[in-house]
Amino acid sequence: RENFIIAIDGFSSCGKSTVAKAVAKKLQFVFIDSGAMYRAVTLYFLRHHVNLDDTEKINAALEHIHIDFVPHADKMCMLLNGEDVSEEIRQMHVSEKVSEVSAIKEVRQALVRQQQNLGKRRNIVMDGRDIGTTVFPDADLKIFMTASPDVRAERRLAELLAKGEEVSMEEIKQNLAHRDHIDSTREESPLRQAEDAIVLDNSDLTQEEQLEIVLNEYEKKK
Ligand code: C5P
Repeated sequence: RENFIIAIDGFSSCGKSTVAKAVAKKLQFVFIDSGAMYRAVTLYFLRHHVNLDDTEKINAALEHIHIDFVPHADKMCMLLNGEDVSEEIRQMHVSEKVSEVSAIKEVRQALVRQQQNLGKRRNIVMDGRDIGTTVFPDADLKIFMTASPDVRAERRLAELLAKGEEVSMEEIKQNLAHRDHIDSTREESPLRQAEDAIVLDNSDLTQEEQLEIVLNEYEKKK
């Protein structure tokens, strides 16, 4: 294969996308946030009151959903049917439902296919839950990120408060535990560490140190 694929998986709020973005920037790879795609679908379902038990409605909705990543200023924007939803998909009302939506087989099939297409013939860094296991089982480099629950909750809280969202530590902790539970126990491609993944616990690492570790692994594999 002429392209190189880096898969970064792990629990919620482990700092996957921060590292993934930094690696992509350094190597000039395309960064793809697969979680943002599940969030966009969730937002659409919320807006259109799609009942999560109604497979027919879910399939019809999936037909109408078009997701795009477009560069804007120095970051990537997520477009849902042409509308920039980058900010809204991070809000709590989406976080509260996203894991239920992500457990639906039809949703996963549609998004996994799109993710595989995004990785064709180009160098990518993709972060998510099942990238190294299901989306790209033969990825060239797989990283599995972990961090202590307290560190994760603190990072998440700081992130949301900085955006002006009113949210408590308790709500954050509950949401993380809730998502981790659903993500790792669902039937369809549950979150688990790929056998050939390199574990990166970043509880006590700076962003620079994490970047260096991943770049080192890349040098070994490329
Ligand atoms: O990465 P992020 O936390 O934004 O992802 C939001 C949710 O999307 C996760 O909690 C998980 O339920 C779902 N997800 C998934 N598979 C992926 C990426 C995200 O199920 N590859």
